[in-house]
Formats: sequence, structure tokens, C-alpha cells
Amino acid sequence: MIEARNLHRSYSIGKKSIEVLHGIDLSLKKGECAFLCGPSGAGKTTLLYTLAGLERPQQGSVVIDNTDLYSLKARQQAAFRNANIGYIFQNYLLLPELTALENVMVPGAIGGANTKEQAEAALERVGLSKRGEHLPAELSGGEQQRVAIARAVANRPAVLFADEPTGNLDSRNSGEIMDLLLGLAREGGTTLAVVTHDPELAKVGDRQLLIRDGAIEEIGS
Ligand SMILES: Nc1ncnc2c1ncn2[C@@H]1O[C@H](COP(=O)(O)OP(=O)(O)OP(=O)(O)O)[C@@H](O)[C@H]1O
Ligand SMILES: [Mg+2]
Repeated sequence: MIEARNLHRSYSIGKKSIEVLHGIDLSLKKGECAFLCGPSGAGKTTLLYTLAGLERPQQGSVVIDNTDLYSLKARQQAAFRNANIGYIFQNYLLLPELTALENVMVPGAIGGANTKEQAEAALERVGLSKRGEHLPAELSGGEQQRVAIARAVANRPAVLFADEPTGNLDSRNSGEIMDLLLGLAREGGTTLAVVTHDPELAKVGDRQLLIRDGAIEEIGS
């Protein structure tokens, strides 16, 4: 389903260059739920961005469902992402001037689909059907995260990426959000890659991976 080969990514700041991804290989099967852990700055967000087609690696390839992401033209790539990939960003990235429902409708609107019903159904799946008219600032952290999840799963993507989806939540809310994500993934046969700091939360996945020193290792399954 996801085949990443030999991913390299480095950043230079001034004369210094740091290599964040040093030839990473990763395969995820359809429907597999993988958790990625690793110290702050290890490159978890960079890897997730690269896998999702949001950041071109300097070397290597990412193939999702037989489509080589970085060989597509920008517009085709954006259309592929819109149709197949859901992404939950590290800090929600909800649009502050849009209501919860409107936020959930954005990707569908970009894809040209009629999405109000789809968006309402997604809010219901995350338990927020009564909060559709609220602005993000009128929602709790956990609720904002649920809106971000609803937005990512509204069109039932084949692949879902989540970057620290429980980073700002207490342990009870964290458990609930993780259960919700896994439930949605299992129900839809969705391939799921989740970044988390919390090794306890990572245990619920099919595979646990550690990113350290530019490399990835399997630490459990
Ligand atoms: N656009 C950029 N320019 C320069 N350096 C960057 C850029 N993006 C990321 N980096 C550097 O790459 C490294 C990896 O960053 P990344 O955000 O992937 O880490 P992370 O594992 O997600 O960390 P955290 O757990 O704190 O979210 C960091 O040292 C960061 O400073
Ligand atoms: Mg990060």
C-alpha cells in the first residue's frame, strides 16, 4: 500500500547541514496501523510529510497504491492527495474563521465534491454533531482535535496520517482520541501511520517503529 524507498532529507541552516532522513525504507500493508515514536527533532514530522507527498525528499520514492507520488505533476499530486490521503497536522491547523462544519468541508470543496452531508456525517462519527456551528476558538483542545480528525476522514481516504494527535490532550482524552482513530481506520480498512511521544499509546497499533539518527527501526509488532 505504502512503499517508501531510500528517503533522504537534509536541511541546511547557514553552513551547517543536518540530515534528518538518512535513507529510510518503509512498507505498510493495506489496513495496517503503524505507530512512529522517537525523540523530539528526530524527524517524525518530516517523515510523515514526505510519506504524504507534502515534502519532496532529496532522494528516494514514495509509492502509494501503485502511484509514485513524486513523479506526478504538482496538480495531479494535489488531486491524488485530496482523493486518497487524510492528514491530521501536529497543531490541528483548523482555519480559525470557519466553523467546525466548514472546516470539515474544506477538502471536499477543493476536490469538487458536494460535501455538507459528508462533513456532517464525519462530525457525527467523531461525536461532535452538536458543535458544527462553533468556531475553533469556541471548542476545547480535544474537540478541535476531533474536528481535525473529522476533516481528515470525511471522504474516507485509503491512507491516514496523524502527527501527535494527542499531543495537547490529557491522558483520558488521549486514550479516547486514539481509540477513535483506530476505530475509524479499522472500520474503513484504512492504512494508518500515527506519530506519538507516548509508548503506552503506541502499543495499540499493529507495528511500532522508532526513528532515531535518521534511521527507522522496528521496535515491536
Ligand atoms: N524547514 C526546515 N528548515 C530547517 N530545519 C528544519 C525544517 N524542518 C525541520 N527541520 C529540522 O529537522 C529536524 C526534524 O524536525 P521534525 O519536525 O521532523 O522533528 P520531529 O521528530 O517531528 O520533532 P517533534 O517531536 O518535536 O515534533 C529538526 O532538527 C528540525 O529543526
Ligand atoms: Mg513533529
